Amino acid sequence: MAADCIRHAKRFPSLPLEWRIQSAATMKIDILTLFPEIALSPLSDSIIQRARDAGLVEIHGHNLRDWSQDKHRRVDDSPCGGGPGMVLQPGPLHAAITELKQENTHTILMTPQGAPLKQARVRELSSETHLLIVCGHYEGIDHRVVETLIDEEISIGDYVLTNGAIAAAVLSDAVIRLLPGALGDSQSAVEESFSDPNLLEAPCYTRPVDFAGMKVPEILLSGNHAKIAQWRKEQAALRTRKNRPDL
Ligand code: ADE
Repeated sequence: MAADCIRHAKRFPSLPLEWRIQSAATMKIDILTLFPEIALSPLSDSIIQRARDAGLVEIHGHNLRDWSQDKHRRVDDSPCGGGPGMVLQPGPLHAAITELKQENTHTILMTPQGAPLKQARVRELSSETHLLIVCGHYEGIDHRVVETLIDEEISIGDYVLTNGAIAAAVLSDAVIRLLPGALGDSQSAVEESFSDPNLLEAPCYTRPVDFAGMKVPEILLSGNHAKIAQWRKEQAALRTRKNRPDL
């Protein structure tokens, strides 16, 4: 542990000390799905892959079919009471979840029936040490598994994806980028955590200041930081009213 702290403290010299010490504890994410490649692919590049390489997070994909007792590796059956689609059977899910669960595990089911994911919940989840993310498919999973083995059901939005592996990747990405050190030396995650969750961010611009006749707002080139902050606040309010009147 002490050696880990020194290693991480050296790796991220410009981050606050508490962050560097916290980052010595590696988070583990297990994703249980019929499609591990779909879940892992977006988590194998860029910032997330760098976080994995730096030892901030360990991610493992598991194919639910590996726990099937069926000779054709079947894991689903038709819904009791009739209706369209298929339901994931309790047997393989129970065997897989009980094998993958540890003492410190928080088990999440990705489903459109879950609570809508918000940044505040993402922040809380980023302090867990082991997430086991179970991905639904077809009509869903047998509810006896939800009642006995799932701690929390999460939806990433009011729409239906082909499978929960995509949603698991979205949740994992959102959590991992908040791990201390994941964004490198950038202050973005710190600033975000202090910003108003009910306000969208103001529009942003970069060079060239004149692009095809469209100019960057003068105020942003003025060097007057108080005025710029005020302008950003007003623009954020306008943008929120236009795009997210519900906030
Ligand atoms: N699986 C399918 N659609 C989903 C959604 N919107 N959120 C989480 N899991 C899902």
